Amino acid sequence: MRNAAVLGVETSCDETAVAIYDGARGLLAHVLHSQAALHARYGGVVPELAARDHVGRIYALAQEALRRAALEPHQLAGVAYTAGPGLAGALLVGGAFAAGYAAALDRPLVAVHHMEGHLLAPMLEEHRPEFPFVALLVSGGHTLLVEVAGLGHYRILGETLDDAVGEAFDKVAKALGLPYPGGPHLARLAESGRAGPFRFARPMTDRPGLDFSFSGLKTAVLTALPRVKSEQDRADLARAFEEAAVETLAIKCERALDETGLNRLVVAGGVGANRRLRAELDRRVRARNGALYFPRAEFCTDNAAMIACAGWARLAEARPPTSAIEVRARWPLDDLRPPAT
Ligand code: KG4
Ligand code: ZN
Repeated sequence: MRNAAVLGVETSCDETAVAIYDGARGLLAHVLHSQAALHARYGGVVPELAARDHVGRIYALAQEALRRAALEPHQLAGVAYTAGPGLAGALLVGGAFAAGYAAALDRPLVAVHHMEGHLLAPMLEEHRPEFPFVALLVSGGHTLLVEVAGLGHYRILGETLDDAVGEAFDKVAKALGLPYPGGPHLARLAESGRAGPFRFARPMTDRPGLDFSFSGLKTAVLTALPRVKSEQDRADLARAFEEAAVETLAIKCERALDETGLNRLVVAGGVGANRRLRAELDRRVRARNGALYFPRAEFCTDNAAMIACAGWARLAEARPPTSAIEVRARWPLDDLRPPAT
């Protein structure tokens, strides 16, 4: 299984992506089409349009990935796809394509959890973490701190009680008149902002616990909007928001390392591409002699490389079908799971 290539498909939201990951040779190919331009005029993702666009592109992207990897379809050992969470219609397109492809090739089909994909994305890099580690997963839909003991061994340490941090970036960006998707535009605007003119509290850092809340910060920023009179004010406000969000995340990451006694921190998900966040985490983790791991920016945002990689890892650990007799003297009834349907 080590030298086996797995095709990964990602269609959970507004990116159509296909990649091929091989356990021995690493990432062999990854291709991606972003629908950002398609949804921009609506100011957000339109689910029906997303699903239809995936349908039109997925097959050609898979062909292109195979061509770049210089592989024939029959050389694939399995097909992985994002099974959720995401937009149901969009997910179904990738799922149906992957299921058809796997059936035609008579290869195993692997359903991958999108957030597990993000979590394992640093494994695509040379500087990759060993288990166990703490992961900060920050995307448009999630803000999670997870203790990762091994593949599939995840303990949620904290999560957002309201808006995801990426959602807060996008909403503040929209209020500042920036194009969709707002996070990266806001980060760029913040670069020319000055520290000082605006300042926001770091939500929920003054009490114990690892949960987050970003809707109050978002509201505070929107309330300050009438004070914006110039281009410089806009940049200053963007910077103050970014600093508050980043420092809040960083404080909770340190707290999670303290509580778990771990010293490896992984940051992944779309907001993990944020430069200020990376620099702040780097500074803090270095100061405590820990190690920080993150995927390159293009593998922080949605992509299929992480899905192919997670699919490969799951296939590699899956027990091959066997006719061996297994007996368990002790077997609690609530260990049972419904059969996969
Ligand atoms: O992981 P992702 O691509 O999709 C989801 O699964 O949600 O994350 C997208 C989120 C969006 O909210 C986007 O604005 C944000 O990540 N994002 C950023 C940056 N790049 C992407 N937020 C802040 N700074 C960035 N550089
Ligand atoms: Zn994502």
